Amino acid sequence: MHNHASSTRKLRFATMAAVALLFVGSYCAQGQSSGVDVYNAKCKICHGADLKGDTPGGKMTHAQPLDSPEAVKKSDADMIATTRNGKNKMPAFAAKLSDPQIKAVIAYIRTLQKK
Ligand code: HEC
Repeated sequence: MHNHASSTRKLRFATMAAVALLFVGSYCAQGQSSGVDVYNAKCKICHGADLKGDTPGGKMTHAQPLDSPEAVKKSDADMIATTRNGKNKMPAFAAKLSDPQIKAVIAYIRTLQKK
């Protein structure tokens, strides 16, 4: 007998649920591995394609622009820690993304910051 217990049980946050209702389905891509895919699937909903957070999700959660001078100055370690652990209304992704995925998505955000 195999019981495939769901590991997603604890991962639902009120904020994510509220945002998810606005963007049903389209951001639920599975198996993402590259930074761009992770960003588009998990981050763009709030931070926007251009990092400015000018999206319904970004406005609702008060996401600051990730391309501001302050954000650009943050270390990768800080950005990775925030992505893992969350911060205020920013959800924690430690249980949803692997460390390589988190590193890849931060690297992708760095490329957007240079645009
Ligand atoms: C539900 C909306 C939401 C989603 C989804 C989201 N963020 Fe955020 N993010 C926020 C908010 C709100 C803040 C501002 C947090 C604060 O400082 O109050 C933030 C801040 C950040 C920061 C700056 C944190 C710092 O160190 O000050 C980084 C980096 C970041 N997000 C990365 C990501 C990444 C990577 C993803 C996708 C894996 C992501 N975010 C998905 C809402 C979101």
